[in-house]
Amino acid sequence: MFDRNSAAAFEVRGLTVRSGARTILHDVNLDIPAGQITGIIGPSGAGKSTLLRCLNRLIDLSPSLDVEGTVRFAGRDVRESAVDPDDLRRRVGIVFQQPVTFPGTIVRNVVFAARKLGLVSRKGEAELAERCLRDAGLWDEVKDRLRLPALSLSVGQQQRLAIARALAGDPDVLLMDEPTSALDPRSTEAIEQTASALRGRKTIVLVTHHLEQARRLADWIACICAVDGRGELMEAGFCADVFCQPTRDETREYLGISGRC
Ligand SMILES: Nc1ncnc2c1ncn2[C@@H]1O[C@H](COP(=O)(O)OP(=O)(O)OP(=O)(O)O)[C@@H](O)[C@H]1O
Ligand SMILES: [Mg+2]
Repeated sequence: MFDRNSAAAFEVRGLTVRSGARTILHDVNLDIPAGQITGIIGPSGAGKSTLLRCLNRLIDLSPSLDVEGTVRFAGRDVRESAVDPDDLRRRVGIVFQQPVTFPGTIVRNVVFAARKLGLVSRKGEAELAERCLRDAGLWDEVKDRLRLPALSLSVGQQQRLAIARALAGDPDVLLMDEPTSALDPRSTEAIEQTASALRGRKTIVLVTHHLEQARRLADWIACICAVDGRGELMEAGFCADVFCQPTRDETREYLGISGRC
């Protein structure tokens, strides 16, 4: 699996998610390599976001869903009673399709959660904000207006601000659910550069409908498709292998491959 240097950050085994009689995800078995970028691709409604939400237990916030199977993160079942969901979500940060921005200054938006969690003192705020804004590729654009309202930023800038906020918790993992679907090409490129720059330091799981983006960024690809209305993992493998030699008809159809890679 993966390459010789990479261990699994997540080991997903027999993961099944149901809503009443309806199966949303069926028996997903997937290893997600640490320190690499894993792209999750597949048609709309196949269960990609649901899988992501199982990784940091955001799925708990949908009590009507039944979850079976295990997700091991750093070797430990995330649903063990000893695992604190808030701590898990700090270590496994998430960025959504639409940026979440709070009223308040740019700096406050970055350090808010880290302050609340006691990860940084008031004195350390400015330094933490600068580091995270640099890592998110936003520093140069905002360094002269750090105390202005964050809501004055463009949507693309707010998305990078959301990444900076996630990074302020010093997560091991960044889950990104279609982070660029609301953005123009320039902002998309900035976010792709940010994800690339974090490779090796963070585990990144990127759900995307942009196949070219998945090809550009991902080391490892997992393709989820709906079979008889329920989401199943079709295949997972090195990016070039899945794109050029998919093993399943469903993947081939989703990728639109007609004999040419
Ligand atoms: N809380 C919920 N209750 C009931 N059904 C749900 C819930 N969350 C998701 N679903 C259903 O599960 C299926 C998979 O949803 P999910 O959002 O994971 O798909 P997706 O692959 O992320 O799609 P998209 O690419 O459009 O974002 C959908 O049919 C959705 O309606
Ligand atoms: Mg989704």
